[in-house]
Amino acid sequence: MNKDSAIGVFDSGIGGLTVLQKIIELLPKENTIYLGDTARAPYGTKSVETVLRYSFENSEFLVEKGVKLLVVACNTSTAIALDRLRSSLEVPVIGVIEPGATKALDVTKNKKIGVIGTEATIQSGAYTKALRAKDLKVEVYSRACPLFVPLVEEGWTDNAVVEMTVKVYLGSLKQSGIDTLILGCTHYPLLKKAVRKFLGDTVCLVDSAEEIAKEVGSVLKKDSLVRKNGGGSHSFFVTDAPDRFVKVGQRFLGEKVESAVRIER
Ligand code: DGL
Repeated sequence: MNKDSAIGVFDSGIGGLTVLQKIIELLPKENTIYLGDTARAPYGTKSVETVLRYSFENSEFLVEKGVKLLVVACNTSTAIALDRLRSSLEVPVIGVIEPGATKALDVTKNKKIGVIGTEATIQSGAYTKALRAKDLKVEVYSRACPLFVPLVEEGWTDNAVVEMTVKVYLGSLKQSGIDTLILGCTHYPLLKKAVRKFLGDTVCLVDSAEEIAKEVGSVLKKDSLVRKNGGGSHSFFVTDAPDRFVKVGQRFLGEKVESAVRIER
């Protein structure tokens, strides 16, 4: 492992590209390797044991590739597996929940914070724990929004169905008087416009991707692993046929995914 080693990023599928996008934007010299477990997504509806096993398998693949740092871009994997990954892997491991929680506490004024995510993420209580660990006075209102992932995957981010779904899921959060909402799932940043339209400008939307990229930068610096020369190269691996990943990837990454290699699971 050295400065030229890549940053490894994994997600249950395609959504983690929103996190990778911010890492590439902030750290353009770094090489990255992304693994999307497209054959086994979604994770958000699966059991704790299954998400744990998948998360370990994904991490092992990236560690074998010689990554210098591992980013768990999936909120569900972070909620369930982060602590165990950290204690059993030798590379630094960064998850999405803590950076999001820290940012939310920075911006909230009334200490009423909403959290939305997959069923598994919300059920784990990981965001509530992370928020309360830093501030006992904070009030946390959480809501699972399982239909958001398939809507985004379908490319539906701004139509009448999305508006209706947002209204049903976020109606009670709006009533609770939150001034901050954590978008606790890789797919939700793509629904920002619809969520903002429903909640209004007074609620601050926290998308942890940017915070994670900053955290990656500071961990690399601390460990003297920052890559200084050249432009980074980016490779992509998936566990199912790559066609859909390549086709839909641009929506999440903001630039074209040139190709992806399929690995067998
Ligand atoms: N990547 C997942 C997350 O951030 C969303 C998709 C899934 O359920 O696998 O929680």
